[in-house]
Amino acid sequence: MAKFIIKGGNKLNGKVKISGAKNSALKIMAASIMAGGKTILKNVPVIDDVLTMAEVLSLLGAEVNFDSANNILEINSDNIKSFEAPYELVRKMRASILVAGPLLSRFGEVKVAIPGGCNIGSRQIDLHLKGFELMGAENVIEHGYVYLKASPGIARSSKKKLKGAEINLEFPSRGATENIIMAACLSNGKTVINNAAKEPEINDLANYLSKCGAKITGIGTDSISIEGSDELKGCEYEIMPDSIETGTFIIAGVLCGKKVEIEDAVWENMGIFCPKLKEIGVNIENKEDNTIIIKKSKGTLKPAYISTLPYPGFPTDLQPIMTVLLSIIPGISIITENVFENRFMYADELNRMGANVKIDGHHAVITGVNKLSGAPVSSTDLRAGAALVLAGLIAEGTTEVNEIHHILRGYENFDKKLRNLGADIIKVS
Ligand code: UD1
Repeated sequence: MAKFIIKGGNKLNGKVKISGAKNSALKIMAASIMAGGKTILKNVPVIDDVLTMAEVLSLLGAEVNFDSANNILEINSDNIKSFEAPYELVRKMRASILVAGPLLSRFGEVKVAIPGGCNIGSRQIDLHLKGFELMGAENVIEHGYVYLKASPGIARSSKKKLKGAEINLEFPSRGATENIIMAACLSNGKTVINNAAKEPEINDLANYLSKCGAKITGIGTDSISIEGSDELKGCEYEIMPDSIETGTFIIAGVLCGKKVEIEDAVWENMGIFCPKLKEIGVNIENKEDNTIIIKKSKGTLKPAYISTLPYPGFPTDLQPIMTVLLSIIPGISIITENVFENRFMYADELNRMGANVKIDGHHAVITGVNKLSGAPVSSTDLRAGAALVLAGLIAEGTTEVNEIHHILRGYENFDKKLRNLGADIIKVS
């Protein structure tokens, strides 16, 4: 089993370039199912989740070519014949369920495995299904799959399979917002999504779809409207930079940087993350050309109270990574996790490295310690794994991070980028 071995204590210095956003690339790849002809995506990160989504698309019948050396992915979905996303792939990567909206929109039917729970929470898809139902899709759940089909009354006379609807999300779920936007693109009439998620990656998806010919307004607000089109045409599109990778390198810079310049880092896309860091005393600067610079802080950093929330709130994906920083700031910090109910599984691993993190329901009480010490630890999920790597960078001695398949799902060249900044980290298999 591959693992990262990190010798702590090195200072980071220099520049690092952020890769394309995982959570945008995966959705745009799914959306390309609806686009006639070729979609050419640039700045696609070479990560395991992208390879899994490419596998899903190929299995459906799309032609997929990944020039991974240049991060360019070409997709032609003209010959898709299958409407099924199988359990083996959905289990491997939950975002596979994002093919449901596009397949339903284009063909009026889809069979997709129900993902089930994962290491950070139960992660239901009820909001996705409720949206599809309001657009006229009937659903049957059988043998672990949900089978959705546009009701014949709608589809009979029209090329368009679903009908527009007003959908009020009970929670601004990203996945539900994305799946419903995509389902609405080739539907009959207007769909309005109220209480929609506002993450910049959703804007990226909507911008790609608009470039393909979709009629979407309200992008970036909590009320998004989509007027159904007759067809979409593939286009060339560049994936936005990854804001969670940006946040990860920001915290690495704060933990052990002399001066770290993070390129392709968009401050606004991070919501309140960067302002929050400023508040606790981090020396962070936003340069106009999408570069964020971290320099050594002048005084001692202050503990913090943080609540995770949908964008522009504090991102849940950066919660484990932030905990590593708070674990070495003198005083008591509290993090409240509001998005996923089970996102503190890494705490015990971090405590094995000498941190003092106590979990009480969906709160983490973090008492700052003087130092962390290297230990063998295991990634419990993608961001938790990255957090443990960062802990290893500042820990005394050697840290061995196991189960790194979680990390490889979402970070392109993570160890190489850290090594280029001066970290002592190697991957062994
Ligand atoms: C996406 C991101 C993930 C991030 C999360 C929150 C991708 C591939 N993943 O996940 O990295 O941590 O947003 O920012 O983009 N929920 C329901 N019913 C539903 C849908 C969601 O109850 O139908 C709940 C979930 O269980 C969870 C919360 O809503 O508690 C947020 O989920 P959602 O915003 O949908 O996250 P994902 O899109 O799955």
